Amino acid sequence: MIDAGSVETALRSALSQGLIRQEDTAAIFYDLSFLASRIKYLTSCFPPATLHGLAIKANPLTRIMELMRGFAPNIGVEAASIGEVTMALRSGYQPDHIVYDSPVKTFSDLEFALKTGIHINIDNLSELDRVNKITMAGSCTMSGSAGLRINPQIGLGTILESSVAGEYSKFGVPINFFREELEKAYLTHPWLTGVHLHVGSQGCPMHMLTDGIGVLYDFVADMNRKRGRIGFPSISVFDIGGGLPISYQSATSPPSMDEYVRKIAERAPMLFDPASFKLITEFGRWIYTNAGWTVSRVEYVKRDPAINTAMIHVGADLFVRECLNPRDWRHEYSLFDQWGRLKEGTDDHPYNLAGPLCFSGDIVAKNVLLPRVEEGDYIVIHDTGGYTFSMWSRYNSRQTPRIVGYRADRFEILKERETLEELQGFWR
Ligand code: LLP
Repeated sequence: MIDAGSVETALRSALSQGLIRQEDTAAIFYDLSFLASRIKYLTSCFPPATLHGLAIKANPLTRIMELMRGFAPNIGVEAASIGEVTMALRSGYQPDHIVYDSPVKTFSDLEFALKTGIHINIDNLSELDRVNKITMAGSCTMSGSAGLRINPQIGLGTILESSVAGEYSKFGVPINFFREELEKAYLTHPWLTGVHLHVGSQGCPMHMLTDGIGVLYDFVADMNRKRGRIGFPSISVFDIGGGLPISYQSATSPPSMDEYVRKIAERAPMLFDPASFKLITEFGRWIYTNAGWTVSRVEYVKRDPAINTAMIHVGADLFVRECLNPRDWRHEYSLFDQWGRLKEGTDDHPYNLAGPLCFSGDIVAKNVLLPRVEEGDYIVIHDTGGYTFSMWSRYNSRQTPRIVGYRADRFEILKERETLEELQGFWR
């Protein structure tokens, strides 16, 4: 997490260098050195041949995708749609560094993916039939590699909307219900050399993630014995998905990546034998979220008898889940004056941080203790580097904010504030 002191340093330089103009009522910042160190640490935890497919859905900014690729040779992406696959190809990712994971791939999506040579994670047995049909028809061959997504059915985490390994899930093939069908799939398709799982995103403790990996590890060991007997190549691509939780609160410490890797190695040691397996990871939140923060100017302050409301320039357009599901999603907030100086103390009454959108649920956070807020101050919402701008909502047609990267006091505009013409273009 980037603390208020470090944000203050960056915010003051950004203001003095004119990066937050009058029209930049809000802006999003990324500490690029933080991202580089994240990648360095991640790649040091796993075997060197691991492909780290960073989840594009967490942060699809083209410039960030280009930068991430430069931080280490084994950085790839996990794409949730053909749109994301295309963006990855255009940002310079090699096909064998792209992992394609949509649960609703059409025939033409599959044909495109097969021709391009990316790694496809097949979501279900009907999709497997389609891939078979396409390759049998001879219109294209399997130029990349493929795995099958299996739901290990090890249970739900604390956040239902992002838990996908319960008894029921819309993703993957549930192993307890379809064990026989899964065996048949692996014993009739020699080219099916991968497995894929993803347990959930945030809200799933580390032991759930390793339990899920363990279920698939045992299944793969069994399948590889049987495939060996019939002369099929072993299942050798093991995609563990993403999901390592992070902390949105500075007082709580999240599990560390090296501890996670140690736990995986205890449960599934052969995964770390490079002659037997190639690992794929698909982290998103752990990579990006703590690296970014959002700043909004306070336009007005309303003072009711027991509660204050700071009217700010980002609401449910940028913070969809914080507004709609505040129980599960809460950030930390800091207050700065118009020159970017950190304000200290606590006002007599707490604050609601209310967005600009036209519905009463457009409140980013309720009852936040803050120093006294004045018009023209800056509110910073911490830990917004992942699953925030990527979930932007067009409701009320607000212009998307300027997005800025920095290394110490050197700034780079990653994406310009949306113009009114571009905004109109969306609806045209
Ligand atoms: N792989 C697959 C197949 C996924 O579905 C996801 C996240 C990831 C990897 C990355 O998981 P991570 O490491 O970021 O936890 N809209 C939600 C986030 C949903 C995440 C969906 N899938 C939110 O409000 O934050």
